[in-house]
Amino acid sequence: MSRLQQNGYAQYSARNSLQYPKGWFMTLIGKLLYKLYGLNAPFCNLLYHEVIRKIIVKLEGGGKGMYSGTLRRIMKDYYDVEIGAYSRGYCFEPGCAERFTKIGRYCSVAPNVHIITINHPMDFKSMHEFAWHPDESDTDLREWSPIDIGNDVWIGRDVIILPKCMHIGDGAVIGAGAVVTRDVPPFAIVVGNPARVVRYRFEPEVIAQLVQEKWWEHDLEELLPDIEEFRKPYAGVCSFKGELTN
Ligand SMILES: CC(C)(COP(=O)(O)OP(=O)(O)OC[C@H]1O[C@@H](n2cnc3c(N)ncnc32)[C@H](O)[C@@H]1OP(=O)(O)O)[C@@H](O)C(=O)NCCC(=O)NCCS
Repeated sequence: MSRLQQNGYAQYSARNSLQYPKGWFMTLIGKLLYKLYGLNAPFCNLLYHEVIRKIIVKLEGGGKGMYSGTLRRIMKDYYDVEIGAYSRGYCFEPGCAERFTKIGRYCSVAPNVHIITINHPMDFKSMHEFAWHPDESDTDLREWSPIDIGNDVWIGRDVIILPKCMHIGDGAVIGAGAVVTRDVPPFAIVVGNPARVVRYRFEPEVIAQLVQEKWWEHDLEELLPDIEEFRKPYAGVCSFKGELTN
């Protein structure tokens, strides 16, 4: 049984399966930490939450959260952020992604990334919170822009993703410091402010084959026999450049 399965990913082929760890003791600990995380007490500050997240990562396989079912459940239930199996890094920090963010499998998220899914209503008389979120009640008149980030996406350090970007394709690279204002095609490398495609990782026919193959739907244990295929340049140098499309 793989580490991810032990930690709650028996249904690993389902994109974002969210279960507690397996085994009665680990299940109990996972459930307890999940509940403790949600406590609404004065001492439940940022440090408290950080400590709980660190304990969970330690108990559920390390790897910057890549194997943790409990952490994924916390992100989904407390922050409305879905994180696919094997994705790892800063995406488990609560400040990284706003509500309605979906991150696919095997993604890598570098420090200080910000995924923003909401604007203030610019067509209201005032853009101040008193207009769209009166008395800090549940009523929030802003329109969220859900974002769907594909699989095996690498998001570099200090990236900002803005609400008009609603889809980042599988295999895309977002260069360090990029400000992404539009959708990113699969396997594109985008850089700069505003982010533009500098090139693609592979030639179009290789991209088409990878998009069809969907290797990321497999469990890591299934991929390991073919590990050599993943540890060297895959399909030669790519000269294909394109435009960032909506
Ligand atoms: C995007 C990236 C992967 C491109 O790497 P690369 O293929 O080696 O690209 P090059 O260095 O050949 O750059 C290609 C062009 O894009 C520009 N460019 C590259 N990265 C850029 C960036 N982050 N921002 C702005 N422009 C960038 C280069 O200046 C170059 O422009 P030119 O053709 O006009 O000279 C890399 O530059 C990057 O940003 N990596 C992220 C690193 C990171 O955040 N790591 C965190 C730890 S995981």
